[in-house]
Amino acid sequence: MEHPDSILIVDFGSQVTQLIARRVREAGVYSEVVPFQSAEAAFARIKPAAVILSGGPASVVDAESPRIPQGILDSGLPMLGICYGQQALTQQLGGKVEKGDSGEFGEAFITVEDGCALFDGLWAQGERHQVWMSHGDKVTALAPGFRVVATSPGAPYAIIANDERRIYAMQFHPEVVHTPDGAKLIANFARHVVGLTGDWTMAEFREAKIAEIREQVGSGRVICGLSGGVDSSVAALLIHEAIGDQLTCVFVDGGILRQGEAEQVVSLFRGHYNIPLVHVDAQELFMGGLAGVTDPEAKRKFIGKTFIDVFEAEAKKIGGAEFLAQGTLYPDVIESVSFTGGPSVTIKSHHNVGGLPERMNMKLVEPLRELFKDEVRVLGRELGLPDVFVGRHPFPGPGLAIRIPGEVTKERCDILRKADAIYLEEIRKAGLYDAIWQAFAVLLPVRSVGVMGDGRTYDSVLALRAVTSVDGMTAQAFDFPGDFLPRVTTRIINEVKGINRVVYDYTSKPPGTIEWE
Ligand code: XMP
Repeated sequence: MEHPDSILIVDFGSQVTQLIARRVREAGVYSEVVPFQSAEAAFARIKPAAVILSGGPASVVDAESPRIPQGILDSGLPMLGICYGQQALTQQLGGKVEKGDSGEFGEAFITVEDGCALFDGLWAQGERHQVWMSHGDKVTALAPGFRVVATSPGAPYAIIANDERRIYAMQFHPEVVHTPDGAKLIANFARHVVGLTGDWTMAEFREAKIAEIREQVGSGRVICGLSGGVDSSVAALLIHEAIGDQLTCVFVDGGILRQGEAEQVVSLFRGHYNIPLVHVDAQELFMGGLAGVTDPEAKRKFIGKTFIDVFEAEAKKIGGAEFLAQGTLYPDVIESVSFTGGPSVTIKSHHNVGGLPERMNMKLVEPLRELFKDEVRVLGRELGLPDVFVGRHPFPGPGLAIRIPGEVTKERCDILRKADAIYLEEIRKAGLYDAIWQAFAVLLPVRSVGVMGDGRTYDSVLALRAVTSVDGMTAQAFDFPGDFLPRVTTRIINEVKGINRVVYDYTSKPPGTIEWE
């Protein structure tokens, strides 16, 4: 589809390319990310107003490294090159790039040497600003027509500009939060350099995705795994808008859900939206398979596989479903996928990504794959999803199972469900729910001695966790007001049999992760 008011982002494989797209969306401009291999075709199809070239793990000095397609380079459109993008632009336009002896990684300060359109209303000559560097190679000679507008001790060509051709490029990453003014630099590119008005909204994302889903699915049937969380709910609503009753939702209750969750989901989807919903009670299957499993990755793998098995069985029953829809978000994608040559490692195998086993012979529909949580919430509101769902804290696919280190049993799930419900009830009562990104309890495989009434107890320890976060990629422990934790602790110990001690987890991410497993 043509989109003359958009910016095309050419992906050279950086881990943070989607963050560029996010910053462009924040500037009110539609964008699409395409891998460099198919950039030329996408460019011809979309007819964008400008192009951003991402970073990437390759080295332009190597002969077989990716290149900017010549058609894009010759188009005369404004371009912004980031890191690898800068190096590729420089080399292909006649400048020089060399392999650095040592890379530059992390926080750095650049000095503004001259004015340019990127700095409008933002930076003035002589100022120093924090940026996030992550590169090995560097530009050593400018291409004709370029001038230096910012420098840093490690990168004399920190930002370069060719005003006549409206090409700008930087050695650092403006898309990450560690470049505090980065979003504004990207917005200035979109508005002042390219001249876009910045009036794109999530309503247009919805329309574009609906068209995309219709095109992908045609007259096929889709089944969507509903978890009760925001992501899968929003994905299901969006797909339902696109293809109506070609969609059937499947809600698998493996006994690892929170209290009351199953009832809420069934009433919302069947009752409120009248979306076909199959409610599968698979508690025995899940609990049976989890018996004796204590390794976190083994739990995740078993749960992921079993969900897919159940889907497969349901798909067969529904008949003719060739697509499986999932509410996968961008952070799930980057934390789970290790790009070839990139520095990333798999931290956890988030069970809703990674594709489906070949044998299932189903294609994936993942309309939220490029969004971040807060954007999904905006989309949810746009689709009329009730506030209790839109504002819901994230809940992981493997559910309570990864909040019970050690063996997961029905009995332990029941204990955790009760404690978790009290914790959340108190958080809501205190008016703190929306100030917290995610709050939950973890039932530890540790027993401690206590005294209740006149008797000795020897029961489980419960950890409480609450974090604030912007996108789940980093997080800080939430600081509860003075009397909150003691009050919740007393209630849990009094009301939940099997727990006699409660602790609070103050670990940030990194070094911790949000979930315990
Ligand atoms: P971590 O624990 O990796 O979590 O810091 C980051 C965010 O992702 C959620 N999470 C998952 N979500 N499937 C999901 O859908 C999973 O397997 C999974 N594991 C973690 C976690 O709750 C937090 O919001």
